[in-house]
Amino acid sequence: MKIVVILPTYNEKENIGLIIHALQEQFRKIPHDMQILVVDDNSPDGTAEIVKAARNEFSNLHLITGEKQGLGAAYVRGMKYAINELHADVIMEMDADFSHNPGDVPRLIETIAGGADFVIGSRYVAGGKIPEDWGFLRRMNSRWGNVFARYIAGMYSVRDCTAGFRAIRTSIIKKIDLDALKVRGYAFQISLLYEAILNHAKVREIPVEFVDRKRGETKLGLSDIVEFMLNAWWIRFERSKTFLRFSVVGASGVVVNLVSFTQLMAMGLNKFIASPLAIELSIITNFLMNNFWTFRNRENNDKIHIRGLKFNVVSFASLGVSYATFLALSRVDPGGIPQLHQAAGIVPATLINYFLNSYWTFKE
Ligand code: GDD
Ligand code: MN
Repeated sequence: MKIVVILPTYNEKENIGLIIHALQEQFRKIPHDMQILVVDDNSPDGTAEIVKAARNEFSNLHLITGEKQGLGAAYVRGMKYAINELHADVIMEMDADFSHNPGDVPRLIETIAGGADFVIGSRYVAGGKIPEDWGFLRRMNSRWGNVFARYIAGMYSVRDCTAGFRAIRTSIIKKIDLDALKVRGYAFQISLLYEAILNHAKVREIPVEFVDRKRGETKLGLSDIVEFMLNAWWIRFERSKTFLRFSVVGASGVVVNLVSFTQLMAMGLNKFIASPLAIELSIITNFLMNNFWTFRNRENNDKIHIRGLKFNVVSFASLGVSYATFLALSRVDPGGIPQLHQAAGIVPATLINYFLNSYWTFKE
């Protein structure tokens, strides 16, 4: 496997030389093609010059530079380069400041080699640690960042969603549209994890001890924290989009049903014939909208004719329920408004429709 360790740097002149050497030391124990890619954002302290000098010593060391746009933007550039130019099979994310122990790199790689797609060096699983001397604010910041990611963005099963020490198969990253991620800063970490989970990545957490940097200072600012919180809500909204869309489609189906029912009767059709026709019409428009809009992102292995067959079965069931309701109400209340009887049939039909379509026709 070809593995590229990405080191994003901004003003890390005191750390970068040391971390490059420490990594090369670890690489000797790893039976894979190991490369380092430094993504420096034109650090004014001359970090890039140190990397350039080290390139004379190490042929597996690469450097790209660019404008400072945030940690996430740097990782996006680095990942694209690692995939397109270096043809990496696995990418590692790692801080350049020794917060992440280079000695843990072999364990992360072993876990990937064992079959995982997305390995997190985790501070919040048994055996993992945050620095003893972290102040109240820093502790709260990290805790709350994870609470937001887990309970608002919905990644309950992952303990450390914000970690910056990870190994990821590029087969997963290639499925993600990195440019579409709406985050520039540290929030990138949770967005990437979220997208990986959507793409069925096998996620594993292994314990690591996070240590405070001894040289230089942290770049995590207030705007990163704000972006972090907003991003968690954005992800939540994205998640509920399927349900929102289904509701919109359902509401449009009610309109199609009742308007066509009224129209058909106005054209002189008997209400007992107009009813099932109107129901069928709304089932078809609902199916088409759900197929091409609500569930369009669901990966479904069914051939189109199988899905069509399932659709017919579902339609038949909901049409039956809906029409039975209409007939029953017309009988109980023969003088009543037919539109009301027709509308009442929509309720049980919608439930059956949603259940069968979501768990069967459009099953992932
Ligand atoms: N190229 C580039 N551009 N690098 C950056 C930028 C940027 O805008 N901002 C930060 N970096 C680099 C730093 O130079 C360092 O190597 C690494 O990214 C992490 O930055 P730190 O400033 O040391 O972050 P931290 O220790 O406060 O944050 C840690 O915890 C976060 C939350 O759990 C890191 O592990 C993060 O990755 C993690 O998300
Ligand atoms: Mn750090």
